Amino acid sequence: MKLLVPLMFAVSLRAGPYATAEVCKQCHPVEYAAQSASGHARALRPPAATEPEQWAFGAGNQAVTFVSQLNATDYLEHGETWYTATKRFDTTPGHADTRGLRYRLFDPSAGILRCFSCHSTGPLQVDGSGTIQPHELGVRCEDCHGPGAEHAANPTKVSLKKPGEQGGAAMNTACGACHRVQSSAEDGSNLLDPWNSRHQPLLLAASVCFQKSAGKLMCTTCHSPHQALEVRQETYNKACLGCHAAPKHSASVTGRPCAACHMPSVRTNANLAFVNHRIAVYSDGDALSPVTLAKH
Ligand code: HEC
Ligand code: HEC
Ligand code: HEC
Ligand code: HEC
Ligand code: HEC
Ligand code: HEC
Ligand code: HEC
Repeated sequence: MKLLVPLMFAVSLRAGPYATAEVCKQCHPVEYAAQSASGHARALRPPAATEPEQWAFGAGNQAVTFVSQLNATDYLEHGETWYTATKRFDTTPGHADTRGLRYRLFDPSAGILRCFSCHSTGPLQVDGSGTIQPHELGVRCEDCHGPGAEHAANPTKVSLKKPGEQGGAAMNTACGACHRVQSSAEDGSNLLDPWNSRHQPLLLAASVCFQKSAGKLMCTTCHSPHQALEVRQETYNKACLGCHAAPKHSASVTGRPCAACHMPSVRTNANLAFVNHRIAVYSDGDALSPVTLAKH
């Protein structure tokens, strides 16, 4: 017996029949080729022969965490994660020790199903023995464009969602379905908590650039939605200069990328770091508290 798992938080993205990226490839080979090489596409993979664990979460750009099915009702998130920057196994983020965390498959918070939901595409199925079967591994086309089988069959009659069409706030919500947004004004997300540095929509929305640019600043101002993370800093400098043609500095800043000072890297633990998406002026040694500029 197969059971379709309804996940409350993903409902808006997950109605209607899904195809797969292989279907989209026929007509959109350029997007397909680029997207297949991105961290998104590699965010979840089944076990390799050399790794007895069942599932590997994370493309390995930052880290890989393993998840095993224990029996028909229980899953284990392993207590040791592979960290790419430090090239070692260490305690999994959020775990108190290396023993691992046990999840009930159908507990009310749907903890383990939520891992799969954010790291795969389309509806999840659970078979009679409690095995989770993602429709498609990784973050692929229809996670952002919505279910596409009808469009694929009839592209000129059925059009798909374009996450960038409605401006920066709408894109924060779309990408924030996985990268997180503040769930409400009262949820009190502490922007100075280093853990939140991984929640880019939350921080971007708090920056002056975002608040004063009337919806023009969005994730895709700096990131191509289909490509692997760009590491050449010129790309980001160009994005800043698109709005700040001649920034005023009291000392020379030439030779250093804009983001190095205005989007400093934040350590969330000994092995992980994220760029602070709350664009601002920071002082050396504090990558989280913006320095307030005098009005001029
Ligand atoms: C369905 C969930 C989901 C959605 C929607 C989503 N992302 Fe992601 N994103 C992920 C996951 C999971 C990763 C981690 C990949 C990994 O394992 O390193 C990621 C990684 C990334 C990366 C790093 C990629 C790399 O190659 O290292 C960027 C940049 C990014 N996302 C931007 C975006 C933007 C921009 C949007 C909206 C247009 C978006 N994401 C929407 C889940 C999502
Ligand atoms: C709400 C969506 C969401 C859920 C639920 C979720 N992830 Fe992720 N995960 C992401 C996003 C987005 C990233 C990319 C973070 C970044 O690079 O900013 C990510 C990144 C990762 C990474 C790469 C290393 C890192 O920390 O960035 C691993 C490993 C990972 N997730 C494992 C898991 C596991 C295991 C679970 C379940 C216990 C889980 N994730 C649940 C969205 C999610
Ligand atoms: C048989 C060819 C074909 C297939 C298969 C196909 N598309 Fe398209 N797609 C098109 C054409 C043609 C257009 C331009 C439609 C127009 O301008 O009226 C388009 C447009 C789009 C657009 C722009 C928005 C829109 O709807 O106009 C997106 C996004 C898109 N496709 C994504 C996808 C995704 C995701 C898949 C896989 C689920 C897919 N396409 C499968 C032919 C196809
Ligand atoms: C992380 C989210 C994300 C993923 C995954 C993704 N796209 Fe897109 N795609 C976007 C965004 C954002 C745009 C820019 C258009 C807009 O929203 O304004 C876009 C644009 C497009 C367009 C062009 C529409 C136009 O206006 O010219 C096509 C075609 C397309 N995507 C197809 C695909 C296909 C095929 C895949 C899978 C191989 C895919 N996308 C995966 C977010 C995504
Ligand atoms: C879409 C346009 C846009 C982009 C792209 C953009 N900004 Fe801004 N930024 C603004 C606006 C608008 C303001 C407010 C200006 C004002 O009030 O005088 C601002 C303000 C700032 C400030 C002053 C912050 C403060 O605390 O007052 C800094 C620093 C800054 N931007 C740096 C950057 C850097 C660095 C980048 C690239 C990583 C960038 N911006 C990208 C529009 C943008
Ligand atoms: C003003 C430019 C800018 C905007 C807008 C922007 N980013 Fe980034 N982002 C960067 C820079 C710079 C990096 C670091 C790249 C590097 O050098 O590795 C980065 C890195 C990332 C990463 C990799 C993990 C990390 O945090 O270091 C993810 C994931 C990401 N961005 C997602 C997003 C999402 C989602 C949005 C929209 C909410 C967004 N970004 C908007 C400039 C931007
Ligand atoms: C070496 C660190 C550093 C680098 C690199 C840097 N900035 Fe700044 N920026 C600062 C500091 C510090 C301030 C506060 C004003 C001052 O003391 O110069 C500032 C102020 C600003 C302001 C606000 C000034 C105003 O008139 O409102 C903007 C906008 C800005 N920078 C944009 C950029 C852009 C775009 C780049 C890349 C081309 C860049 N910065 C590179 C450190 C830096």
